[in-house]
Amino acid sequence: MLTGKKILLGLTGGIAAYKGAEICRLLVRGEALVKVVMTKNACAFITPLTMQTLSGSRVYTETFSPENYQIDHVSLARWAQALVVAPATANIIGKMAHGIADDLLTTLFLARGRMPVLLAPAMNSEMFRDKIFQDNLTALKKRGIYTADPGSGQLACGSSGEGRMAEPREVLDALAGLLQERQDFTGLKVLVTAGPTREPLDPVRYFSNRSSGKMGFALARAARDRGARVHLIAGPTSLTVPDGIQYQEVMTAAQMYEAVLGEAPEMHVVIKAAAVADYRPLEQAGDKIKKDSASLTVTLAKNPDILKTLGERKGPGQILVGFAAETRDLLENAAHKLARKNLDVIAANDVSRPDIGFEGDQNALTLLFAGGGREDIPPGSKDQVAHRLLDAVLRIKNRP
Ligand code: CTP
Repeated sequence: MLTGKKILLGLTGGIAAYKGAEICRLLVRGEALVKVVMTKNACAFITPLTMQTLSGSRVYTETFSPENYQIDHVSLARWAQALVVAPATANIIGKMAHGIADDLLTTLFLARGRMPVLLAPAMNSEMFRDKIFQDNLTALKKRGIYTADPGSGQLACGSSGEGRMAEPREVLDALAGLLQERQDFTGLKVLVTAGPTREPLDPVRYFSNRSSGKMGFALARAARDRGARVHLIAGPTSLTVPDGIQYQEVMTAAQMYEAVLGEAPEMHVVIKAAAVADYRPLEQAGDKIKKDSASLTVTLAKNPDILKTLGERKGPGQILVGFAAETRDLLENAAHKLARKNLDVIAANDVSRPDIGFEGDQNALTLLFAGGGREDIPPGSKDQVAHRLLDAVLRIKNRP
């Protein structure tokens, strides 16, 4: 799957550099085009000559090389389709997380543009568990950097624990996954809803919630990238509308109800990531409400449940995905909604956790399936999580 792909392989200074050499060998055997960049410390563990022999081309170690007046960090970043750093030490991860560019590898990381980056961390388990290191790793993941997570096992320091670099094959699988130009949604029409709804109280005030719309937008982009025809219906957000999809903005739950029910019969898959307001002010004042009384009572009326209606009208073969944003009893509440709304999958989202959920760039979900079954999607960028959710949808769609 990596045939013809242009891969930059970065090696940093750790004993797992030998696994970096093996990755290089496997890439070349898989007919990928490999260029190797080594940090100064990597050269203490393995020689550039070894890597040159394995990759079959010049190894890059200096930011500015006299024999080549091209600016390597820029030309290499432009050349490559992906950057893999294996092993990635705590040091390089710290530098990348903070934008430090003091050698060729860190500089070309900053010059990466849209090139995907995969890191294979490797270090002693104390270092791996350290809060500062974990914060750095999380900061990179939030920016969409991929990781091949380390496993547990015997470490070079003699102890045993977490921090041992992922095996070369696992790194290559992760790389193949992120480079795959999957078109597995070709021919499918996907409707996604995103963002909050706004329920006006008067011309200047409204009831709403903290949904940013990022998860729904990530789902719409991911489905588009995989070949689906995507219709996105969103409440008010500050996000950029993705290219290549049909987009419709609504304000209230009632408007979302109309828009969604109008489109749904045509759709193969409906994903309701929107955080729809359950209630709206029963009456909307025509003029701005003045503060002339000591207290104000607002009567709220229940909004229609869009997803429940979709569940009642579900077409043959149509796949219905709901979200359950919960602050307690996550799985119980989600399971209840899955059954009550006649869904195929529900994505349970623990919004009480500050690191994932509503406004952030990261998420983690637990999927519950109709008829039983559960899948945990670990924390990752909302784009990564979106792809995992789409993988699950496709598995249901392709079930015999
Ligand atoms: N939903 C919907 N229409 C509503 C309310 C919710 O379509 N009026 C959808 C959401 O888009 C989400 C799912 O239903 O996919 C679950 O939403 P949530 O607010 O978690 O559940 P509710 O059914 O509103 O239940 P509760 O607020 O009591 O937890």
